[in-house]
Amino acid sequence: MIHGQLQNLNLIPAIAAMVDEMTAWRRDLHAHPETAYEENRTAAIVAEKLRAFGLEVHTGLARTGVVGVLRNGDGPSVGLRADMDALNIVEQTGLPYASTYPGKMHACGHDGHTTMLLGAAKHLAATRACKGTVVFIFQPAEEDDGGAQEMVADGLFEKFPVDAVYGLHNWPGMDLGTIAVKAGPIMAAYDSFEAEIIGHGAHGGMPHLGVDPVVAAAQVISAWQSIVSRNIDPYDSAVISVTQVNAGDTFNVIPDAVRLKGAIRSFSADVRDRVWDRMEGLAQGICTGFGARFVWALHSSYPATINTDTEAGLAALAAAEVVGAHNVNHHPAPSMGAEDFAYMLNERPGCYVWLGNGPGTGGCMLHNPKYDFNDEALAIGASYWVRLVENLLPV
Ligand code: NI
Repeated sequence: MIHGQLQNLNLIPAIAAMVDEMTAWRRDLHAHPETAYEENRTAAIVAEKLRAFGLEVHTGLARTGVVGVLRNGDGPSVGLRADMDALNIVEQTGLPYASTYPGKMHACGHDGHTTMLLGAAKHLAATRACKGTVVFIFQPAEEDDGGAQEMVADGLFEKFPVDAVYGLHNWPGMDLGTIAVKAGPIMAAYDSFEAEIIGHGAHGGMPHLGVDPVVAAAQVISAWQSIVSRNIDPYDSAVISVTQVNAGDTFNVIPDAVRLKGAIRSFSADVRDRVWDRMEGLAQGICTGFGARFVWALHSSYPATINTDTEAGLAALAAAEVVGAHNVNHHPAPSMGAEDFAYMLNERPGCYVWLGNGPGTGGCMLHNPKYDFNDEALAIGASYWVRLVENLLPV
């Protein structure tokens, strides 16, 4: 059922007619959420549907990943990606189709993403209104576990060569019927660190007999907060957050060491390298001054998600055809969240867009136990995928 403002959208009629069917698929996936690399039921459903649509189907990439291929003569090739995994969250929506798996929940809308790509696959398999090859990529483990990286390592783009790859994510807080697309960075790189400042423990009343790592750690934490303001170009962005500080066991003993943990977010390799370099330099200098030692380990996680110019333009064009030019936001503020589609964009040109999910019940943001994907967005996202393919692979 399509309501209100959505009647003004240029949905593909056959896709709009599939809304009830897609809603049923989505709610079934929602009731059966599976987390990283355990998406066995989801992958089986995806593979079965793709086969029923008449596509060539490959399973087992990155364990539970599924790829469907639509070949229709010579022409360009395009990859479209959806993520299938859920989160370890106890659902609190109270919906009739709420999770039936304890402690697991589709709180990021990947149930909707999977459904929209299935809807587009069904439509394109029926119309074959494109000349070339469409690769439908259903990936596992987007949350935390780098399923996109595993699919790339598993030979995704060697087995299924594509000229460009596209992704989308629903975005609560953006109006239903709007799409945000921009060239350049859209989601941040995420790195974490574990550091230790090693001094020399002493009696709390006789600090001069030891090296106090707590005082050194306080200076280090403060000094790190100068990096973004003093060492990073004001037109670039970065976040340095110390999120754990652990030391000591009692009132009157200066501990031997302080352990720090935290996270760094940035939008480019240059900024990320600069932050790492300055964190190390400040910490080493301060600790040397105090007679303490500084050691740390950095863990690189997802890189920044960076859209290429041409593909961002093509995505914006397809988006405008579906939601109208006035409903395409070309200048969204990038998010400091991270997204593992970045690994695919590291390999191929492409674009990742945000699809308006509306305010949601209580204004729920992603990863909230009361979040739900908005079924009214299903036909919008699926229509976007189809228009994109028709434009990229003209008959
Ligand atoms: Ni997500």
